[in-house]
Amino acid sequence: MAKKRLFTGLQPSGQLHIGNYFGALKPFLESYAEYESFLMVADYHSLTSLKNPQELRQNIIEGARAYFAAGVDPAKVVIFKQSDVPEHTELAWIFESLVTVPFLMQAHAYKDKVAKGMEANAGLFNYPMLMAADILLYDTDIVPVGADQRQHVEYAREAAAKFNIAYGETFKEPQEKIEETIATIPGTDGQKMSKSYKNTIPLFGTPEETTEAVMSIVTDSSGGRPENVYAIHKLFKSEAELTALYEANKGSYKLLKETLSTDINAALAPMRERYIAITEADIQKILKEGADKARAIASAKMAEVRKKVGVTL
Ligand code: TRP
Repeated sequence: MAKKRLFTGLQPSGQLHIGNYFGALKPFLESYAEYESFLMVADYHSLTSLKNPQELRQNIIEGARAYFAAGVDPAKVVIFKQSDVPEHTELAWIFESLVTVPFLMQAHAYKDKVAKGMEANAGLFNYPMLMAADILLYDTDIVPVGADQRQHVEYAREAAAKFNIAYGETFKEPQEKIEETIATIPGTDGQKMSKSYKNTIPLFGTPEETTEAVMSIVTDSSGGRPENVYAIHKLFKSEAELTALYEANKGSYKLLKETLSTDINAALAPMRERYIAITEADIQKILKEGADKARAIASAKMAEVRKKVGVTL
């Protein structure tokens, strides 16, 4: 039986943290080989919020590098960047011409920005239709995403259905796959770990940077177990081991933090070594090969779409 097709995208946003690892990289690593997998660096999506060319370029490279360092085998996945396959933006336009403004105004990501008083650009408003194009061009079955992206996959299904009704059966409706077990990775302040909260522990930082972040974990003085330290520690050690450790060192927050830092550094060392060993030239080569493979599929699909909408003479 043919493998089902998996498609996911990562929006490159700079320095990765352990929340990115447990929330996105690790789940991808554990499942991608069962599927025919596509991994896309969503550089045009990033452009809706990032206006610094050097930084964008750097983020693209680092995003791809992280997946290889984590252990993704480039022979078992098509990894490419969105801007290398212009069919994505082309199809997004067609979807944008099909859906209404009130429909897009329902998007949480857009509503949140507006609620915070930010002025959303038109790209951000249309974001769900570019993401729908990403997914639908490849007849995708499964889309692994974080819970915050669930609605975007629903938008993709609706775009597929709307197109199919208007022009005849063309797109497959995809299913999201949400990693429920590790819904939230806590940061150093106990909130969700996120770059915007400045509560992260770097994934590819030096051991010293890790220690500095771990020492900054917020603990209260109510005695017993420092919950914020424990919550992060659980990602690296079994609860049985931790119960003994935390029981034996009740109240010794400094020692427990030092142990956590040592455990994180030991666990991440191989990944960090690979990260440094992978060159920018390696990444460029893999992304180029991926783009060729992705484009072969996307261009066939777009030829069909152009014919159906009536622009092919
Ligand atoms: N919007 C996704 C995020 O911010 C990234 C993304 C872009 C994506 N295109 C996609 C994810 C297609 C899955 C499928 O995380």
